[in-house]
Amino acid sequence: MEEKRELLSSVAKSITASPIQELSHLAQRCNAINLAEGFPDFPAPSHIKDAAISAINSDFNQYRHVQGICDYVAIVMNQMHGLDVNPLTDVAICCGQTEAFAAATFAIIDKGDEVVLFDPCYETYEGCIKMAGGVPVYVPLDPPHWTLDPNKFIKSFSRRTKAVILNSPHNPTGKVFTKDELEIIAGECRTRNCLAITDEVYEHITFNSEKHISLASFPGMRERTIITSSLSKTFSVTGWRVGWAIAPAFIASAIRNIHVKVTDSAPAPFQEAALTALRSPPEYFESLRSDYESRRDYIVNLLARIGFKIHFKPQGAFFLFAEIPENCPLSDVEYVRKLIQQAGVVAVPGCGFFHADSSVEKLSQDSYNYQDRYIRFAFCKSDHTLASAAKRLGELLDAAGCLNLK
Ligand SMILES: Cc1ncc(COP(=O)(O)O)c(C=O)c1O
Repeated sequence: MEEKRELLSSVAKSITASPIQELSHLAQRCNAINLAEGFPDFPAPSHIKDAAISAINSDFNQYRHVQGICDYVAIVMNQMHGLDVNPLTDVAICCGQTEAFAAATFAIIDKGDEVVLFDPCYETYEGCIKMAGGVPVYVPLDPPHWTLDPNKFIKSFSRRTKAVILNSPHNPTGKVFTKDELEIIAGECRTRNCLAITDEVYEHITFNSEKHISLASFPGMRERTIITSSLSKTFSVTGWRVGWAIAPAFIASAIRNIHVKVTDSAPAPFQEAALTALRSPPEYFESLRSDYESRRDYIVNLLARIGFKIHFKPQGAFFLFAEIPENCPLSDVEYVRKLIQQAGVVAVPGCGFFHADSSVEKLSQDSYNYQDRYIRFAFCKSDHTLASAAKRLGELLDAAGCLNLK
């Protein structure tokens, strides 16, 4: 088996299975309640399911490019962010944000180009950057509020820096980058003549008074930003695989060419149904937000009550990045293993979202290794799932009412 591995390319060898997937398999074996993976376990909206069924029955079952998606995306970007997007040239439809992001990196990254990312971050970016031959450079966001230190950010640039990756609202922390932070990022991109790739899949999921602002809306950024997003999170259809990249025409064209070579087209019936989804009334987006806000409050209260340290209440997206109780000696990985085995609940150890480069910063923080103290709980789950998780956790409380894993 080992010699056979030698047949793999060095890129393939460097990309390993996601810890999230592995835990999900363990959770399945233990029949654990899954608060690990970032997909809803409640039904997708019926108006868009009906549209997909009707598209299949109308025989939209062949390779297809649905221009109407580009038209709607251009309208929405104008309404939400005042951006001027040409739907004929500036939008590339892809198989989810995941493919849009991969195609974007292949479109702009050459071997040895450095790419700045914020740490912690969503796990797929690094693999794509490496496949494109790029070198990830991580800038740690400072706990407990995951603030951006402008000095650390500016220091991460070099002559080889080609792009900055920004995900806001942010997985895993639920942070929504502030206007001031975005201003700093935009300023540095302009000064250094760098591109930005944004991941805005949680653009419609923000809480309280938080508002998602696209980096592309800052002066001089539209022409150097590739926005990626998708239907997945906004419409609870992560399996439909419809997403898009919005970029200056020459980059969007390169992304389209790569997309055609890799997958040809996104699923035809779901592209058709996307037209119905994107046309959803404002009330749809309002209730998406308020439903997720209630779920956020539920999980924050639940975990705070049983001893987790919640310094930072998510401002957007649908994850809570909670710190393990102070007096608990377990690492995040050990804690999650026990959570699965003893409580029958699975979440994700935070270490999977942090990266080695941050270790330099770690040492300067009084040797406190925060990177193995966090657990990510996904709250994109039905009320029933959340209540069942609460019940299981409630069975393991000690006399002080705290979760007691042995
Ligand atoms: C930050 C972020 N980006 C992208 C994705 C995947 O998006 P898509 O389903 O459109 O590929 C996820 C899914 O968890 C995510 O959390």
